Amino acid sequence: MNHLLVTGGAGFIGSNFVHHVLGTTDVRVTVLDKLTYAGNRASLDGADKQRLRFIQGDICDATLVDELVASVDAVVHYAAESHNDNSLHDPSPFIQTNIGGTYTLLEAVRRHNVRFHHVSTDEVYGDLELDDPDRFTPTTAYNPSSPYSASKAGSDHLVRAWVRSFGVQATVSNCSNNYGPYQHVEKFIPRQITNVIDGVRPRLYGAGLNVRDWIHAEDHSSAVLAVLTHGEIGRTYLIGADGEMNNKSVVEMILELTGQPADAYDHVTDRPGHDLRYAIDSSSMAEIGWAPRYTSFRGGLAQTIAWYQEHEDWWRPQKQVTEANYARTGQ
Ligand code: NAD
Ligand code: TYD
Repeated sequence: MNHLLVTGGAGFIGSNFVHHVLGTTDVRVTVLDKLTYAGNRASLDGADKQRLRFIQGDICDATLVDELVASVDAVVHYAAESHNDNSLHDPSPFIQTNIGGTYTLLEAVRRHNVRFHHVSTDEVYGDLELDDPDRFTPTTAYNPSSPYSASKAGSDHLVRAWVRSFGVQATVSNCSNNYGPYQHVEKFIPRQITNVIDGVRPRLYGAGLNVRDWIHAEDHSSAVLAVLTHGEIGRTYLIGADGEMNNKSVVEMILELTGQPADAYDHVTDRPGHDLRYAIDSSSMAEIGWAPRYTSFRGGLAQTIAWYQEHEDWWRPQKQVTEANYARTGQ
């Protein structure tokens, strides 16, 4: 593979992937990104300009998508509306981008016989009880809870159908919650870090006992590259790093690492339909020789806090409008 099309490459995980690919391979990258409120061209600053081309555009634009897909060896598809809370207020862009955009890309890779990797989430499986010994596996039944996870589930099903019915050369990966640099301040960890920087108390939905399985975005990037190069066509890979922790413990760790009292947070209105627990069995990734590098969540979190402390110019423009949106729902 010499040339990748990365959709959503100006978003959180997509930009981490672009930096990872340009930093560890000789591959050229074209990014297709609409630059919605969640996209930021500055997230690609510092990348090798000789091997990076940026196109601002919509994955639902069939003409543009066709032209770009025809010019590459593979597509890595990150572009999506990605925030659960937003999907509860206005599901419409989630249906258009996550389902309609994925359909548009699949038709283009079908026409041009181009390798496709679809990046998805473990949220398509619904949630687990806190004391359930089981974790999600590639055969867990789909049971999405929110408009976001339902739209991602729909896109996963489209990819599998295009593999089976049309012989499209595709793989799917479902990853757990990511953290790290370039994550929008609407999401849990950067929201709390930037609140603390601003002297505002972190906000926990409900009792804060919901569990997420955290993985550093750089580990997600190396995992996606591993699936792209060593994955078996038609298979689904589950990506996780054994990082289960409840939200209250994450907030307490952020407070401790920033020198604040451990109880300096507030409980706010819970999210409707709030998934209780996600947990990934990543043995499908071990089969292709992948393992995470960030084995200490505490170490990765300390590095992430330092990144937000040092990159206020990157996140500051989004902070006020994000908090104004949350204020409307009392969160
Ligand atoms: P993000 O919201 O930070 O970035 C999404 C990017 O897609 C933005 O740059 C945005 O401008 C772009 N985009 C949105 N609509 C578009 C459209 N119609 N056309 C072109 N570009 C468009 O999201 P993220 O957290 O980086 O997530 C990326 C992908 O990874 C998503 O598919 C998401 O479902 C998946 N995922 C995320 C997580 C997580 O923890 N954040 C975990 C597992 C999987
Ligand atoms: P989020 O980052 O929105 O990811 P997801 O919904 O995809 O898991 O939220 C992670 C967890 O943190 C989730 O259980 C909701 C919770 N949460 C809070 O407690 N407070 C907050 O301010 C936010 C944004 C999320």
